[in-house]
Amino acid sequence: MNTNLSRRTFFGMAAAATAAAAVPILTESQLAFAQRRRIARDIPPGAVRIDANENPLGPCSGACATMASLIPEGGRYDFELTQKLIDTFSAAEGLKPDYVLAYAGSSEPLHYSVLAFTSKDRSYVTADPGYEAGMYAAKVSGANIVKVPLAKDYSHDVRAMIAADPNAGVFYICNPNNPTGTMLETTAIDKFLANIPAHVVVVLDEAYYEFAVHFATLRKLQYSRSLEYLQRGANVIVLRTFSKAHGLAGVRVGYGLGPAELLGYCARMRNTFSVSSVAQAAALAALDDHPHIQSVVENNAIQSRDLSQGLLALGYGVVPTSANFVFCDLREDAANYADRLHKESIAVRPLGSWGAPNCIRVTIGRPEQNRAFLRAASVLKSDAENRSASR
Ligand SMILES: Cc1ncc(COP(=O)(O)O)c(C=O)c1O
Repeated sequence: MNTNLSRRTFFGMAAAATAAAAVPILTESQLAFAQRRRIARDIPPGAVRIDANENPLGPCSGACATMASLIPEGGRYDFELTQKLIDTFSAAEGLKPDYVLAYAGSSEPLHYSVLAFTSKDRSYVTADPGYEAGMYAAKVSGANIVKVPLAKDYSHDVRAMIAADPNAGVFYICNPNNPTGTMLETTAIDKFLANIPAHVVVVLDEAYYEFAVHFATLRKLQYSRSLEYLQRGANVIVLRTFSKAHGLAGVRVGYGLGPAELLGYCARMRNTFSVSSVAQAAALAALDDHPHIQSVVENNAIQSRDLSQGLLALGYGVVPTSANFVFCDLREDAANYADRLHKESIAVRPLGSWGAPNCIRVTIGRPEQNRAFLRAASVLKSDAENRSASR
C-alpha cells in the first residue's frame, strides 16, 4: 500500500468533509424535522399539528394493508416493484417509461436537478418567498441564487424571473407555490417556456398537483400541461410526490419526470435502492384508490374555504389557495404568534425564515383541527385587542 498516497487521500477527504460541514445543507424536511422534534417534545400526542403540509387523513387503507403485508419480505431487495411503479404511472399518463424515475419523495429529484444543472457560472432562479430546499442544493453547487419577489398577488412574476437571468442553469417554478398556495395557469407557463432559451432547464415542482387540479376544476381554470411539455421534449423536469394528497410523507416516495437525457444526469447521483419496496408498494396501492384521493381533495377544498373565511373574519390577510395550506398575513410578529399557539398545543409554520416575518402558513387539517385553530386564533386576537386598548 502506498502510505503517502493514502495519507494524502485521507487529508484530502478530511478537508472536503470540513468544507462540506461549513455548508448548511438543510432541506425543508430537515428543518421541519427539527421543528417537529421540538413540537413532539413540547406538545402532547393528539395535538393539532398543521405546520408541515401533511395529509390529515393519512394514507389509504389499501396502502396501509400492503405495507403491513410486505414487512416479512423486508429482508430482500425488490427489483420488480420499481419498474412496476414506473410502468403503471407512465402508462396512465401517456409518457415513455424512460421519462420517469422513482425517488424517495420529490426532494431527491429537486436536489439532484439543481446539483446537475447549476454551477458557479449557471444560476438558480427562484421565487421569493418560495420553497427553500432547492436553494440549499444551489449553495452546494456554488450557484448564484437569484430570488425574484412574487408579484403583488403573491404569484410568480415570470417576466421578472426571466429578466433576472435569461441564461440561468435552473428556473425553479413551484406550482402551486409553497408557501403562498398561488397557482400559475397554463397560459403563463406556456409564455414562460416560449421566452427562455431552449437549453435552460425548468424544474416544475408539482408537489401539490392533486389539490391544484381539483381547485382548477372548481374554478374553471387550466392548471398545468406539464406532461405535454415533456411529450414535446421541452427541457423541463416535473416533480411529483406521494407525500401530500396520497398521505405517504413519512413513507418517502415520489417521481422526477423529464426527458431521459436530463434524468440521466440526475440518475448519476441517485442511489438505485433509495426507495424502499414498502414505499413503492404503498404508492401503487395509493394510485389505485381514486375514492381516497377524491375524499382528500374534497376535504381540503371545503376546509380551506372555511379556514380562509375564519381568518378573514378575524381581520387577517389570506391568499386564495390552490394547495393544502393557507398563507396568512397576521400583520404582527408571526414567530411570537406561533409560540403562543404552541402553548395551546397547536403547531403552525411562522414564515420569518422565508422572509415573511408577519406571516404564517397553516396546513388544512381535519374539520375539528381547523376549528380548534380558529378558536385559539380568535382568543389571541381578542388578547391583542385588549392589550392595545389598555395602552
Ligand atoms: C413544494 C415542495 N416540493 C417538494 C417537497 C418535498 O416533499 P417530499 O420530498 O416529501 O416529496 C415539499 C414538501 O413540503 C414541498 O412543499
